[in-house]
Amino acid sequence: MLFVVATSACSKDARPRSPGAAGSATASSGASSASADAPPSPGAPGLGDPYYANLGNGGYDVDHYDLAITVADPKQNHIAGQATITAKATQSLSRFDLDLLGLDVQSVTVDGAAATSVELAGAPGELVVTPAQPIESQHIFTTAIAYSGEPKPRSDPSLPIGVGWISQGDGSFVLSEPDGASTWFPVNDHPSDKATYTFHIDVPDGTAAVANGDLEGTGPTPSTAGRVVWTYDEKAPMASYLAEVAIGDYTVTTAVGPSGLSIRNVIDSALVTDASSVFDRVPEMISFFSTDFGPFPFDIYGGLVVNERTGYALETQTLSLFGSDEVNTGETETIVAHELAHQWFGDSVSLESWKDIWLNEGFATYAEWLWAEPATGTPVQQSAQRARTELQHSGDVAKVPPGDPGVPDMFGPSVYQRGALTLQALRLTIGDDQFFTTLRTYTAKYANGNATTADFIAVASQVSGRSDLQPLFDQWLYQPDLPQLPG
Ligand code: ARG
Ligand code: ZN
Repeated sequence: MLFVVATSACSKDARPRSPGAAGSATASSGASSASADAPPSPGAPGLGDPYYANLGNGGYDVDHYDLAITVADPKQNHIAGQATITAKATQSLSRFDLDLLGLDVQSVTVDGAAATSVELAGAPGELVVTPAQPIESQHIFTTAIAYSGEPKPRSDPSLPIGVGWISQGDGSFVLSEPDGASTWFPVNDHPSDKATYTFHIDVPDGTAAVANGDLEGTGPTPSTAGRVVWTYDEKAPMASYLAEVAIGDYTVTTAVGPSGLSIRNVIDSALVTDASSVFDRVPEMISFFSTDFGPFPFDIYGGLVVNERTGYALETQTLSLFGSDEVNTGETETIVAHELAHQWFGDSVSLESWKDIWLNEGFATYAEWLWAEPATGTPVQQSAQRARTELQHSGDVAKVPPGDPGVPDMFGPSVYQRGALTLQALRLTIGDDQFFTTLRTYTAKYANGNATTADFIAVASQVSGRSDLQPLFDQWLYQPDLPQLPG
């Protein structure tokens, strides 16, 4: 059987591309937009996010990432990657950037032709790719990058563990919100450019690898003897910070959940005895939230428990990540409900801009209050009043406007608690029926896409037939003083 083993561990070929994608900048394509006729120019080095101006890149829109990652030895923090990125040019491009931090590039091709890549001077993580020929606007092109190195998390002032690829000595996992994805793959690292993903994780036989989406197979091909490639497909568009790969000694359990949904939980084998029941109520939570938020947005869901004190959980799409410190507290069930709710709010409906982070965290916190009704008999209004009182006693923290918290307070109490209180204020103003219809209309309208605060306000206004909601949102989201709940 050895003769079928490919000579390269990374044998992914470029995906099919549209005819004439390369080298046709001078062809008359009949393109109508002005930019299509503009001479090729460099794609912008950032997307101009008000909080992270350099994150992401301009000039193209990624459709799919195919990531083949080889971890030769999980005890050594080294990866070899082959990323094949299919994207559509949104302008005529002489060159474009990808985000890739701290790893070395061995080769780059664009539509099969050798291209050059160089890290922009003075801008770590900004990889400039220059194709052999310009890329015409609207053309779908494929970039193939071979890269390798010792992935390291980006340091983050608010997080001792950092963001990105985190090595544990005998395995690794990823926590990337908001800007860690580029520590392990070349990416257009901004939630406004969602894409589908395929992962091929090549590890030694006996090591488990998990990633977002459905397991498509485990098999020795194209690897060599003693190795296994785990292939996963995330078929729903995903924001880059939600991409997850974990490698180690994991125990995987699968089941069938509500409406035939696949349930898969992945727990570090060292924690199985203690943590095996933490996801027991997830199917019940899924049914409960589906009533309020609309159908669960993906075809698989479960939790991933890593053997590391992470300080927080993360709503990695279809496979929320929990640290060992999140699964043994009195708050565990609340955190499990919170990350589940993010699958609707944050994952399916994603941020267009990081400034609108309350659309993720305020909504997931509100979901905690909703779940507390059946779980502990605590009415939402009681949770809301308690949260408001706590905020009021926390001084300046409550004055951070959740609709524009600034980078240092993006994950602070105002975004979570005052964000959730904004929803309770809305509910008390428009009534239960129109409130929950607003939530379901919003998740349906922006499913698998992106939304802004203005989009949410527009849905609430349209559903409720009220044109006077702006002052409510303005007070709660943008003014320093903590408002009173209505009524
Ligand atoms: N989104 C995570 C949650 O569900 C929190 C992430 C915190 N991230 C950070 N960079 N501080 O609460
Ligand atoms: Zn959250």
